[in-house]
Amino acid sequence: NLYVVFMAGGIGSRFWPYSRNAEPKQFLDVLGVGESLLQMTYKRFLKIVAPENILIVTNADYVGKVKEQLPDLNDNQILGEPLGRNTAPCIAYAAYKINERDPDSVMVVSPADHAIFDEDHFIDTLKVAIEKAEQTDSLLTIGINPHKPETQYGYIQFIEGEGRVKKVKTFTEKPHEELAEKFLESGDFLWNSGIFVWNVKSIINSFEDHAPDIAETFSEGRGLYDTPEESKFIEKSYSHCKNISIDYAIMEKSENVYVVKGDFRWSDLGSWNAIHEMKETDENGNVADGKVTFLNANNCYVKTCDSDKVILVDGLENYLITDCKDVLLITPKGDAAKIKHYAKKVKDNW
Ligand code: GDD
Ligand code: MG
Repeated sequence: NLYVVFMAGGIGSRFWPYSRNAEPKQFLDVLGVGESLLQMTYKRFLKIVAPENILIVTNADYVGKVKEQLPDLNDNQILGEPLGRNTAPCIAYAAYKINERDPDSVMVVSPADHAIFDEDHFIDTLKVAIEKAEQTDSLLTIGINPHKPETQYGYIQFIEGEGRVKKVKTFTEKPHEELAEKFLESGDFLWNSGIFVWNVKSIINSFEDHAPDIAETFSEGRGLYDTPEESKFIEKSYSHCKNISIDYAIMEKSENVYVVKGDFRWSDLGSWNAIHEMKETDENGNVADGKVTFLNANNCYVKTCDSDKVILVDGLENYLITDCKDVLLITPKGDAAKIKHYAKKVKDNW
């Protein structure tokens, strides 16, 4: 069987005020196409997986939101986490649950909040990885050609060889800037897209080898998954579970990692700047989502959640302007991460 697991537990703090604690990025129509990122991701994967084999791991607070946006799912497909413990526990939870249903399954793990263009290419790339995971114990990731020394991604150095599946020599999660620049210049590296493919036995073995505490925690749930006892067990387990990403816990440490290069356009939509870059601009580099007129403006991005609001921007360069409900934010573009801290400055618990 093939299962697809969406990680949808992020809080999207870089997208304030458009995203709030109650409405993180994956549930919003960030691209202005009439669907949330979660809904787009779901549709994309229906091309390779039966809808009943899609699982969504998210914070317990967002389970209602997932049901609202994907009404075809049944309750047992939405895995609520009592706390965010990063992606290793999230993946372990799904893996042990799938293992109980069918230990011979192959599992694709994907963020629910990325943008992928050229979907046919994407599906084709995934199929190559899935086939390898059916036949071997490899841990596979989908790699992306890097074009800047981004420090927030994983970097994959691979060994050249025949075929589309390449053996990974080194996996370096979030290198510091100098190292990222070196990686980029060398031309030997790909970015980790954060989309993984493996068979369930293999990822469970890897947890046992490299993150034995996480393996122990979730293996104690054997016999409880898919029963009324599951949520109580999960509640208890997460409280003492380590907070670590799959990249640090497994991908950097495993010997049997392989990469398939994706030749599709990809963005993790990690910031407003990333969305600006994704969109077609006017002749001055401006992008607007809404009824916006630019005069003497350059490289500005405007996003309003009120589609009736008329906005005029005059004489600004490199600005981000975004409003949502009761908040309007006007800030120079640039360091996208600073937005994470804005919400706290004006009000608690947004
Ligand atoms: N359910 C759940 N629970 N989901 C989570 C949790 C959690 O505790 N933490 C993160 N996620 C989800 C996020 O919503 C996102 O969709 C995905 O898991 C990846 O988490 P990020 O926090 O966005 O990871 P990252 O961007 O720092 O790094 C990862 O992605 C990069 C590509 O975008 C790594 O895999 C990097 O190596 C990779 O390059
Ligand atoms: Mg991310």
